[in-house]
Order: sequence, then C-alpha cells, then structure tokens
Amino acid sequence: MEEPRTAVTNATDQRIAVVGLGYVGLPLAIAFTEAGLRVEGVDANARRVAELAAGRSPIDDITNDRLAAALAGGLSLAEPVDAHLADADVIFVCVPTPITRSKDPDLGPVLAAGALIRDHLRGGQLIVLQSTTFPGTTSGPFREELERSGLVAGRDFDLAFAPERVNPGDPASASKGVPRLVGATTGAATRRAAALLRCINDNVIELSSPDAAELAKLLENVFRNVNIALVNQLALLCERMGLDVWEVIDAAATKPFGFMRFTPGPGVGGHCIPVDPYYLAWRAREFDFVDRFVELAGDINFAMPRHVVDLVAEALNERGKALRGARVGVLGVAFKPNVRDARNSPAADVIAGMVGRGATVVYHDPHVPTFRDAAGTTYESQPLDEVVGADAVVVVTAHRAVDMDAVYGRADLVVDTVNSSATRDVRPRQVLRLGAGWSGG
Ligand SMILES: NC(=O)c1ccc[n+]([C@@H]2O[C@H](COP(=O)([O-])OP(=O)(O)OC[C@H]3O[C@@H](n4cnc5c(N)ncnc54)[C@H](O)[C@@H]3O)[C@@H](O)[C@H]2O)c1
Repeated sequence: MEEPRTAVTNATDQRIAVVGLGYVGLPLAIAFTEAGLRVEGVDANARRVAELAAGRSPIDDITNDRLAAALAGGLSLAEPVDAHLADADVIFVCVPTPITRSKDPDLGPVLAAGALIRDHLRGGQLIVLQSTTFPGTTSGPFREELERSGLVAGRDFDLAFAPERVNPGDPASASKGVPRLVGATTGAATRRAAALLRCINDNVIELSSPDAAELAKLLENVFRNVNIALVNQLALLCERMGLDVWEVIDAAATKPFGFMRFTPGPGVGGHCIPVDPYYLAWRAREFDFVDRFVELAGDINFAMPRHVVDLVAEALNERGKALRGARVGVLGVAFKPNVRDARNSPAADVIAGMVGRGATVVYHDPHVPTFRDAAGTTYESQPLDEVVGADAVVVVTAHRAVDMDAVYGRADLVVDTVNSSATRDVRPRQVLRLGAGWSGG
C-alpha cells in the first residue's frame, strides 16, 4: 500500500493536539510542551478547560506551577467547538474507555472523539489513540469513524495506537524511562509516531500493529488484576487457617526470581484494573473464547468489599455490638494511597454495604472532600477525630498524610484492610487485619 505523505519531518516542529485532558492527556500535553512543541489541549468538559485555563491542575502528578509554565509556554486550551484540529500535525486521543453496567466496553467517548477529528481531518495528519481498549479498536471502529471523512488510513493519513503506562501518584512511572509502545497501520506510520514519542520518552518500542499494542496494554492490566485476585483469595484462606497472609507474602517475596509481590486489600479501583480486563473478555467472546482468568479475577476482587463489611460486623461482635446501629468510621476513600482519584473505589461498596446493614458511616480522606457510595449517597469528609472516635474504624486507604499512629493510639476497634497496623503498637484484639486475624492472637 502506498504510504501517506508525511507533512513534517522534524519531530519537534510538529504541532500537537491532545483530545481529552485527564490523568493521561494532561501530562502528555505538558510533556510535549516541555519538549518545546506547540500543543493544543482539547476537552469536552467546559469546566475542565476553565479550571486548567485558570492554572488549577485537577490531578496530583501535575503541580499548578508546572501547568502555569506550560500555559505560558506552548500549551493552549480549547473546547471542541473552538479547537483548531486541522492545524495539528498529530492528534492524540486520551478520552475515557469505561464499561457499561453489564461490563461491556463503552466506546462512546472514543467514537465521539473520532467524529470530532473526522470533521477536521486532512491529508498527512497522524492520529494516535492512547485510550486503553480492546485489540481491533484502532484498526476497526475508530478507523471507520475517521474514514467517514472520505480520507483513508494508511493512504491519506496515519493511524497509530500507543498505550499509556503511567501509574498516577507514582512519580517513577511518569519518568521518561518507562518505555512506550506504539503500533500503527503502516510501518512508516509506526516509525513516525515512534519518532515523535521519542521527544518525550527515551525508550519507545515499535510493534507490528495497533492490535498488538492494544493487547499488550490489556495484558499488563489483566496480569495485575489476576495477581491481586490470587493474593486476595490467599488472604481469605489465611483467615481460615489462622495464618498471616502478609507474613507469607513478605517471605515469598524474598525469592529473587520468579515471584512478584502483590498485596491483598479491600478490592480494586481506579479507571484501569476494574475496567480494562473486561475489554479483553468482551473481545475474546467475539472469537468464541471465554477468558476465564478475567472472569474469575473479577469475581474474587469484586467480592472483597463485601468481605470487609463482614469483617467489620465480626469486629463489632467482639465488642458485643451489632453492625446495625453502630457508627463506623471509614479511613481513606481514594482507590489507592496518596492520590485524590476515587473512581471505582472499593470504599463505595464498603460504605453502601455497611449502611445497607444498618450502620451509620462517617469518613475521613484528606484528598477526597466529597464521596458518593455505591448506593448513590454523597458524604463529606469529616475531621479525623470524628472517624477515630466511631465504634469501629475501617482502614480502606492509608494515605501518608494521615497520622496512622494517632489512629491506632486512639481508636478502640480497627479493621485494617491494608496492613497499616503492621509496624505500630496495637493492643490485643484492638485490630482485626484482613488476611491475618486479631492483633495479639
Ligand atoms: N488514569 C490512569 O491511570 C490511566 C493509565 C493508563 C491508561 N489510561 C487510559 O487512558 C484513557 C483516559 O483515562 P484518564 O484517566 O485520563 O480519563 P479522565 O477521565 O481523567 O480524562 C478523560 C478526559 O477526556 C475528556 N473527554 C471525554 N470525552 C471527550 C471527547 N469526546 N472529546 C474531548 N474530550 C473528552 C473528559 O472530559 C476528561 O477530561 C482511558 O482509556 C484509560 O483507561 C488511564
């Protein structure tokens, strides 16, 4: 096939547009700006655009100062109606890829972004999808949407998939050293996209197709989901056996090869781990293939919040109290420590589960001022004292910013789902640890 005309040869001369300015798109836009490229950031959420334009970063990994420097440099912002996408040489798409209630992929945002680009598409552009999705999206429905313009991928414009591997809240993962993957519909497009990504990353790996890059990203997330399920299941077994799963995992992790440390917890959350594996399971079904690992890991991980509710009931029982009528303090509702991201947090099911069984719940999270539980009730973060003074405290997420010594010093009864009590002085039968049982034996 004839390869499309490449409008610009020098990577740093290219004008970039980034569609979707969230956890993935905003750092990407800023990285290109910092590399000296001109970038237009486009977001469908007018409030998001206004917030960014006012210099307020909505995500933890980008400071307001860094955002301000980018805005003073080459970064401009626009809502879709005002965007100048036809002026861009390269357009990255970083919109959400959620699942429906029945856990099927929802390509709505990706196709909406595709339709937006289609209306501005011109020969020689490179379009790079970066949203996590099932193999076949870039070369299938996304390409079809773009080709409604009358232009043809691989002939008139370039089309690539380059997954994002950032781990929000973990500065090491944002470093230039975490390799990037890219696969496009032609070899020339792969080389072009890789050359551009090398402006912001030292290690770019070229794959044979967008589908391979899409599946590689899903493999990474399925791997994590399955291994988290493995240790969650082991935690339940250790509770029955009277063993401490944390001691067992730490011991196994001393093996310098063939083992990778994963830890149990109250469930999985965020935009990726509870969502992405279902993109693979859904796509596998189109090939008459049941991905049993994905289904099993989902079953185990999604059952963990209910188990946490049972642990709270068990702990209160120890004090001669019922969950019904008890006041329970939840510590941490973000889906992981030291971030403000509470999307799909297991805390939503833990809180709704306890309220459903008659408890009153208060929570404290220094990073999350308001939180909606799985039943749709909205709560406001309360002072730490109020949570620590409850009949029972359940630690869902242990942020660095929370004084855990004070929590264990003052709380009467704690259910610890993340082993935050391990290195602290606790009283016998003060703490019920997930996967390990009561403190003091
Ligand atoms: N958050 C992560 O840690 C992470 C890591 C790797 C990959 N990913 C993947 O990256 C993608 C984006 O995730 P995110 O966490 O950045 O999402 P996000 O919700 O933080 O940001 C997405 C942004 O896209 C905007 N948007 C939605 N539809 C749009 C449209 N049609 N046009 C323009 N803007 C639109 C939203 O307003 C929002 O600001 C997802 O596919 C996700 O799975 C996320």
